[in-house]
Amino acid sequence: MTDAVVSQPVTRDPSRPLDPPAEFTQLREDQPVLRVRFPNGTTGWLVTRFDEGSQVFNDPRLSARRDRHDTPEGEEPEDHENAPFDVGFVFMDEPEHGTYRRLLTARFTPKAVQNKLQPYLDKIVDEHLDAIAAGPETFDFVEAMSLPIPCLMICELLGVPYEDRDGFHHATVDMMDMAKSKEERDKGAHWLVDYITHLVADKRRTGDTTGILAELINKADGEDSILTERQLIGLGVLLLFAGHDTTAAMMGLSTLTLLTHPEERQKLLDQPAKVGPAIEELMRYLTIVQFGLGRTALEDLEIGGARIKKGDLVVVAMNAANRDPRVFENPDALDIDRKMVRHMGFGYGVHACLGQNVARAELRTVLPRLFARFPNLRLATPLEEVPMDFTGTNYGVRKLMVTR
Ligand code: HEM
Repeated sequence: MTDAVVSQPVTRDPSRPLDPPAEFTQLREDQPVLRVRFPNGTTGWLVTRFDEGSQVFNDPRLSARRDRHDTPEGEEPEDHENAPFDVGFVFMDEPEHGTYRRLLTARFTPKAVQNKLQPYLDKIVDEHLDAIAAGPETFDFVEAMSLPIPCLMICELLGVPYEDRDGFHHATVDMMDMAKSKEERDKGAHWLVDYITHLVADKRRTGDTTGILAELINKADGEDSILTERQLIGLGVLLLFAGHDTTAAMMGLSTLTLLTHPEERQKLLDQPAKVGPAIEELMRYLTIVQFGLGRTALEDLEIGGARIKKGDLVVVAMNAANRDPRVFENPDALDIDRKMVRHMGFGYGVHACLGQNVARAELRTVLPRLFARFPNLRLATPLEEVPMDFTGTNYGVRKLMVTR
């Protein structure tokens, strides 16, 4: 059988920057579980429907330990043992995955976020809105808000100095840009590893007890420790990049979306109680994980009529699944009144995003306050000229010039 080749980076239609690649619409109808060859040479399956996708994430016969499918053309799939850092429980299955994830869950419950982070979040959001009001009328929203807020929050949560933000943000961008060579991406990853290694050493030396990093150091250094030094550093790196780059991308893209959907924006302003459902709808509509997530079959199995063999890689295109008309009525419309019980914007199943309550809090706090404070906020460039990030593992805006 000839394998279809899925273009990577996925080609979106630049005139419809808020929609997933157009080719997914047809695939979802005709070949929802399709045998493909990714440009890096890895073969596998691409799933574009919601029910089949959720089956992939819920089936314990599909392991989270997988080869990368999203690296550039001709590149060898990554060998995890020799990767710059250990991605920890992201690539583990149960019960091991749960054991490591539970080291962190108490910090990420809705209650913990509300009690420990919301007061700080309220303060920094208001300060940044004040700075916008005092600054030039036309400004870059990424620089003014959607990058600093997630950076400040992850620094507060982890116990990382905010003055180091330029370094860790640029290293993250390099590491996650699939248009860059492996050398350049690894350079970003090594920067983050060195950074966390030094920070851990500093915290051990000074006995600093603030933030999750200090808690993890305690856990690693304790007598019944289950964390090796490589795992400790890997977890620090994971939280640092996953905790800011994703939310920054989502905040910029959500703002662009609300700027171009005045009716939905108005509903949000008129009925503040809608903010929760509005954020879920934005998560569904935008699904920023750009190239999907993979799992590996541990045995032969069937998904949507396709016969998957033991060892096969199965990639779920969550942006396509989240627009599946079988599950979402009128899926290509942004509708904050949508009655929705589930989406895949934060992943699905046991690996669903650990930090989702932090991300939700940030989006819920920033978006309504931004539009209430600046009711005339508008794009300063035509939509087609907003520079989009087509090659990062998270989709977003690189810059968003707006006028208040
Ligand atoms: C809008 C913002 C965010 C989006 C779209 C997002 C998306 C995701 C997705 C799709 C996964 C599933 C990965 C998989 O199945 O392999 C995930 C997992 C994860 N996310 Fe997020 N994330 C966001 C914010 C955050 C934040 C703020 C943090 C930390 C503070 C975070 C930390 C993590 C961690 C540690 C995992 C691994 C969970 C596991 O494997 O059990 N994320 N995220």
